[in-house]
Formats: sequence, C-alpha cells, structure tokens
Amino acid sequence: AMAARNAVHGGRRRHVLLFPLPYQGHINPMFRLAGLLHARGFAITVFHTHFNAPDPARHPQYRFVPVPDGTSGPAPVAIEDVVAHILALTAGCEAAFRERLAAVLEEYSIDTVACLVADAHLLPMVEAAKSLGVPTLALRTGSAACCACFIAYPVLFDKGYLPVKESQRDMPVSELPPYRVRDLVVLGDDERGAVRELIARAVTAVKVSSGVILNTFDALERRELEGLRRDLAVPVFDVGPLHKFSPAGDSSLLRQDRSCLEWLDARPPASVLYVSFGSIACMSPRDLEEAAWGIAASGVPFVWVVRPGMVRGSARQELLPEGFEAATRGRGMVVAWAPQEEVLGHAAVGGFWTHNGWNSTTESVCEGVPMLCRPCFGDQMGNARYVEHVWKVGFEVGGELERGSVEAAIRRLMIDKDGAEMRARAVELKKAAEECSRTGGSSCLAIDKLITHMMSLKN
Ligand code: UDX
Repeated sequence: AMAARNAVHGGRRRHVLLFPLPYQGHINPMFRLAGLLHARGFAITVFHTHFNAPDPARHPQYRFVPVPDGTSGPAPVAIEDVVAHILALTAGCEAAFRERLAAVLEEYSIDTVACLVADAHLLPMVEAAKSLGVPTLALRTGSAACCACFIAYPVLFDKGYLPVKESQRDMPVSELPPYRVRDLVVLGDDERGAVRELIARAVTAVKVSSGVILNTFDALERRELEGLRRDLAVPVFDVGPLHKFSPAGDSSLLRQDRSCLEWLDARPPASVLYVSFGSIACMSPRDLEEAAWGIAASGVPFVWVVRPGMVRGSARQELLPEGFEAATRGRGMVVAWAPQEEVLGHAAVGGFWTHNGWNSTTESVCEGVPMLCRPCFGDQMGNARYVEHVWKVGFEVGGELERGSVEAAIRRLMIDKDGAEMRARAVELKKAAEECSRTGGSSCLAIDKLITHMMSLKN
C-alpha cells in the first residue's frame, strides 16, 4: 500500500485527466480534488468548456485543454434552463472532446494516463474516454443521500411519489428515509422529461465507471454510504470534505470581496449572520425585500452576499430596498461575492442563512456553523432535511418570505437557547469532520484507497 500512495511510483500512470461540469458548485469540488491528486504526485490535465472556463493563470501547475461546446451566450438564469443547458453543453462538446482526448493520449502515451475523472453529469465524455481505452471515475458533487435518490428515481415514479402531488408533499418516502416527497430532487415542471434524462445519465455515468467519488464523509452519512455500497457494483470513495484537503477559493468564477474578513475581525465571536444563496438560486424581488427587512429588524450583525443576477429578471446586483442601508448602517456588510470558506471559518460568524447547496452545507458543518435553511431546487431540499432532522444543526424558513418570520427565525438561530444548542451540535460535527480528515481517519483512508485504485486501473 505504501508504494501505491505516491503516483510517481514506477514512473508510469501518472497523469489524471479531469473534466468538471462548468457550474460553480461542481467546479469547486473538482478543483479541490485536483489539488489533492496533484499533492500526491499526479500530473493534472483539466478539460473544460468555453462556458464558465477556468482561468489557467490561477493554476500554473495544471495543463488546460479547452473544448468548444457549441453554446455561446450568457449563463442561464432559470432553473429549468440549467437542465436544458447541461444537456446542450454535453451534446455540444462530445465530438470535440473525443478529438482533444485522442490528441492528448497520443502526446502523453496512453499507459501513463491513470484515468479520467469526470463529473457524473458528463456521460458522453465518460463514454468517449472509455471507447478510447481510458478508465473513468465519476465525481458526484452532491451528498450520498442525493446519489441514492438519483438511483431510486425510476422507482419513485413507479411508486407514485413523483411527479410531486401537492397533497402528498409531507408523505414520507419509505424507500429513502428521512426524505419526504417534498425533499426529493425536483427541478421545475420537467414537462419534457429532461430532468429524468439528466438523472438517468448521471446514474449510468456512475455505473459504467470504475468507481464513484463523493464529497462526503463517514461521520455525516455512514448509513447512506453503506446503502450505496450495497446498491452499487462499483467502489465508492467518500473522500470529503474535499475543501479541507485542498486550498480555498482558487476556482471561484466571481471575484471574492475580501473586505468582509477585515470587517468581521472587529466583531465578537459567533455574533454575525452570514447570508448567501449560492451561485444559481434565485429570489423574487418580493422575497429579497422581505429578507432585507427581516434582517434589519432582527438587530443581528450580518454579511450578505447579493450576487449579480440573484433576483429574477435582473442581471445587475439588485438594489436593496430604500432605507435598508440607513437602517443597518455599521451593523452589516453587503458584498457581491464572498470568500465563503474563510467567512464561515471566521470566529465572528455564528450562523449561516443558506440555500443548502451541498458545498455550502458541508462548508458550514465543517466550521461548526448552524444554518437557517432556504432550499430552492434540486438536491437542496434534501440537504435541508438532513440539516434539520438528522444532524439537528439548523431549521428551515419555508414558504413565501415574510419579514416578521424572517426576523423571528434569525433571532432563534443567533440569540435563543435553541440556536445555541444547534451551534453546540454543529461544533461536535466539526470535530467529527476533523477526525475523518486526520491521518488514519475514514476520508484519509478513502483517499489512499482511491489513489491505489487509480494506479491499478487497466486501460
Ligand atoms: C449547485 C447546486 O445549487 C447545489 O445544490 C449542488 O449541490 C451543487 O451545484 P450552488 O448553488 O452553487 O451549487 O451551491 P453550492 O453547492 O453551495 O456551491 C457554491 C460554492 O460557491 C461553494 O463552494 C461556496 O463556497 C462558493 N461561494 C458561494 C463563494 O465562494 N462565495 C460566495 O459568496 C458564495
């Protein structure tokens, strides 16, 4: 095992090829995996679309291979558009990827290439690589529970849980506890079956690959990981939290405004609420206004990420309601994009109002920060369910936002005994995460196994 821990052993199979799905929540874990593999001696080659292309200058240690994707135009805003966009993007770059990959294989000589690690949403690239003799591993950037939900998707339709019926939203899904129907992965109306197609492809990408890499860890999802290992014939590598194995922030698509860190330095421990809804989730103008007045009325200090395009129908950084700035002067800071991991790791931050994207959820858990949950689409409802009912480190603010209930929720999280208990449990989870990432911990062992596995794959 010792010999296989280092990729340069024997001088062969030392290249790993990577292809991330070009969205922030998928790019970050892939680049963290890249950092980890690079530190173990692998040479890294990153294939990428033109859409949301990474900046090679920020990663001089990697080689980048652009793949024309046939799509041009701005990032999609509506959730329904995201699914269509992913399907168009993967179809658009399939042929060009095959060509570029063949050229790279010729250049490197195929037996020095260990494998391609592709986002599980890139089935055509997985198939192209396999047909050219390159073994593949699939990276699933969501939770193990979400992966299980993907696998169960056809059954969920057969049993009538999906499509979601309004009257059944609170019904437990007995096949996937603790999910209720409302917690299942849903993306818009799916009139043309595009979501089912997307999910079926991701499951196929996992099953035809030589293993699946998950950004989760034993202390968080032991039962779910056991379930996956039972249901999948391929090995499952629970190597999370990836951001704890690799440097932060270097794959951000937007410029991170670091001034909020200095502002936090002057604040007492656990006093500040961090508010951010990730890179895709949208709010209505009315939700934004109610959120703003709820935050103002709570009296709690805050750092709030108001991202350009966060409000439906506006590409600009939406203006906060008139009078909000005056009402909160000196008590809060609004930024367009934050160095999130560092903000969550700052001692002054005591709570996170989040959309529960999987990265945000694990980043919060790993810093011992309890959450106010406002899931929006996809896997986020399921993640919020675990936060509230399994780990008990937060609670949901559901429905249409209303300033009074926002104010009450913030005070419950930041000031009440209830919130303090959630914070105490979050700190326990943080310690458990540290145990997993320590030498001899489950994630460290999984990384060793992953590297041994990569070195042993046969073209
Ligand atoms: C999307 C989906 O929403 C999510 O549910 C899925 O699990 C992954 O893809 P996204 O909406 O971007 O992800 O959310 P999330 O998974 O939380 O990822 C956002 C990333 O951006 C995090 O790594 C976070 O640290 C980073 N971020 C966010 C910043 O660097 N600055 C910010 O201001 C906000």
